[in-house]
Parts: sequence; C-alpha cells; structure tokens
Amino acid sequence: MPFERTIMITGGAGFIGSHVVRLFVNKYPQYRIINLDKLTYAGNLANLKDVEDKPNYKFIKADICDYEEIKKIISTNNVTGVIHLAAESHVDRSIVDPFTFARTNVMGTLSLLQAAREYWEPSGWSACRFYHISTDEVYGALELTRPEGDPQASECGGGPFGDDFFTETTRYQPHSPYSAAKASSDHFVRAYHDTYGMPTVVTNCSNNYGPYQFPEKLIPLFINNIRHRKPLPVYGKGENVRDWLYVEDHARAIDLIFHEGKVGETYNIGGFNEWKNIDLIKVLIKTADRLLGRPEGADDDLITFVTDRKGHDMRYAIDSTKLNEELGWTPSLQFEEGIEKTVRWYLENQDWLDNVTSGDYLRYYERMYKL
Ligand code: NAD
Ligand code: TYD
Repeated sequence: MPFERTIMITGGAGFIGSHVVRLFVNKYPQYRIINLDKLTYAGNLANLKDVEDKPNYKFIKADICDYEEIKKIISTNNVTGVIHLAAESHVDRSIVDPFTFARTNVMGTLSLLQAAREYWEPSGWSACRFYHISTDEVYGALELTRPEGDPQASECGGGPFGDDFFTETTRYQPHSPYSAAKASSDHFVRAYHDTYGMPTVVTNCSNNYGPYQFPEKLIPLFINNIRHRKPLPVYGKGENVRDWLYVEDHARAIDLIFHEGKVGETYNIGGFNEWKNIDLIKVLIKTADRLLGRPEGADDDLITFVTDRKGHDMRYAIDSTKLNEELGWTPSLQFEEGIEKTVRWYLENQDWLDNVTSGDYLRYYERMYKL
C-alpha cells in the first residue's frame, strides 16, 4: 500500500526526537517517517530499537548543514512535512564551543529551510508544512520575585516564584550561545514564512524530562550519579528555577500542532510546573533512594555546590494558555508521577546509561549500519 505522505523528522535519534518518531511511526502507519540524523554524540539509534523494523520507518544518516544532500533526500523521498528537532542542545557545551552551535542550529536550519523551499515552492506549497521545534530559553530569563516559592500564587494568576511568564509575544532576549543560536533559527523560520509564504509553525517548549535523555543534562546525570554514589554538582546555590514537562507530553503536543496548528503561528508548550533546582534534586534523591532500597537521606551528602554556570538564567516559566485554548492541549502527567516513572526508567535501564556514558553506542551502530 502506498504511503499517504512522507514526513521527515530531523534529530530523531536524540532525546525528544526519538519520542516523536516513536509516536508518529506507531500512530500513523499511513505515513512514511524518515528519521534524518547525523548521529552526533547525542544521537543514539538504540533509543528507537522498538520501531526500527516497522515498514513505515526509515533512518537516513545525514547532516542538516549539507544542503545538496538534504535537497536530494527531500525530493527523492517526496517529503511534504518536516518536523525539525536536530540541534546542538546543551547550554554548557555551547559555552565552550559556540561555533558548533551556530553551524548546526543556525546554518543547519537555514539549509533545511532552503532545501524544502526549492522542492515545495514550485507546487505552491501544496499540503506542505515545516515545523520548527524551539525552546523557552530564547525569551531570556525571568526574575525570582518569590525566592522561597509560594504554591498558592497560581490562584492569583502567578507562578510560585514570580508573577510573570513567557508568552508567545515576549521579546526575544537570549543569553547563552545555545539560546542565541536557537533564537536565530526561529527568526529564519519566520522569515521564510513572511518572505516566501512557506507554511511554517514554531513552538517554544520548557525543559523536558523522561527516558532516553543524554546524561549530561540535570535529571539523568543526577540519577546516574545517585546510583553510583557520585557527587551531584549543583551550580551556584541551586536557586535557579526551571519549568519541567514530561517528554511524551511534548511529543503529543507536537503531533497536535503538526496536524492542527495554524500556519505562521507560534505556540508555547509547558505544564506550569516550576521547580527550584535544589528542591527538584532533593525529590530525585528521595525517589532514587526509595527505589534502590536505601534509607531516606542516605544520599543527601552527595549534594555538592560548585561554581555557577556562566550567564546562568535565573528562571524560566512558560505560559501555554494559547495552546490550551486554541487546540485543547494539556499535559497528561502530574510531576510526581512523571518523576517516579523517569527515575524508575533510568534505574531499570542501567545498560542504556552505561552504553551512553562509555560511548559504546557510537561504535555499535557504526558497525551495524556500516556508517
Ligand atoms: P538532543 O541533543 O538529545 O538530540 C539532538 C539530535 O540532533 C541528536 O540525535 C543529534 O545526533 C542530532 N543532530 C545534531 N546535529 C545534527 C546535524 N548537524 N544534522 C543532523 N542531526 C543532528 O536534543 P533534544 O533535547 O532531544 O532536543 C531536540 C530539540 O528540541 C532541539 O532543537 C532543542 O533545542 C529543542 N528543545 C529541547 C528541550 C529539552 O529540554 N531537551 C526543550 C525545548 C526545546
Ligand atoms: P540542564 O538540564 O542543562 O538544562 P537547561 O540549562 O537547558 O535548563 O540544566 C537544568 C538546570 O540545572 C539549570 O539551571 C542548570 C542546572 N544544572 C546543575 O546545577 N548542575 C548540572 O550538573 C547540570 C547539568 C545542570
């Protein structure tokens, strides 16, 4: 049976991308799903073992910066939808290597836009869509006007740590090389809509957590360290606030917006779930210790305050009212449930973590796919 359409998901071997690929491959057997990924250190095809043999799934190893190659892939596969997640994604790496972030996130996005435009524009953009996945970090940082946190504040329309939120009209004010590169890529996507009429949509999401996240990011790194009783490096005083969303809820939002989001629009995605780092870390320790059968408080001494990240944004908080009111999206998981699932997953998938931390996954898939 021929496929209804072909959708190319970039960065599908990464953390969020692998959840999006899995959801699309399983939910839409009528679509052919191409996972296009360069397989950097952050890309791991083991994240997609359960779908790699499905007839509607195809993996292509390619670099989004390789314009000629991407053009060929889009035209030979008749790609009419792009869901673009490929990026360098870790703030700490961007501080030591900003050029790589500009190359992938800015030039890579531009080359993808131009390659899609060359193929789609002659057809009058018929049934095409370019969906760009971005981050709340482009909006900069909010203040901590309630440093101790007030869970009741939401009743008055505020967040526990401050009254303001990032909305779709908040001015861009990125601080890190990562967020500056993502902001630039967002501008290019909107420019392609405004200039050429490309049917684009952009979303800006808060911090994601869940299975298959590379253990350089806070939650998987700390779970792995707790398991091995290694120090937990808390930047500064641990007072920074992040707004956390379970990754499968993000993937569900992407599915909804890809199909029903209005062309040219931006949607913020978040679960109104702000946590001060140090409080979140205490929840991680408590949950991991319980699941590991260790006495409560056994690993509290692992908390180690270290030099703060350069330019560390104080608070992120997303207002996702537009997405809720226009498309009816709400997060499905309570944070307590999501954290329990996540800690349990990393503890039960120690092989995955060992493989990733040792770098063995890179060599295994190089051999398997003769890359
Ligand atoms: P990730 O680092 O886990 O995965 C990135 C993927 O992109 C990897 O598979 C990598 O191999 C691939 N990639 C990198 N450079 C490439 C290139 N030049 N060509 C092709 N593929 C390349 O990232 P993630 O956390 O899954 O984030 C995915 C997207 O979502 C990013 O655009 C990120 O900015 C955005 N985002 C992430 C979060 C979060 O909390 N992780 C929140 C909001 C938005
Ligand atoms: P991270 O997971 O890197 O996401 P982001 O910087 O995109 O928000 O970090 C989440 C928060 O945790 C951020 O405030 C930085 C802090 N953090 C630490 O305190 N120690 C660490 O080792 C890491 C990786 C992060």
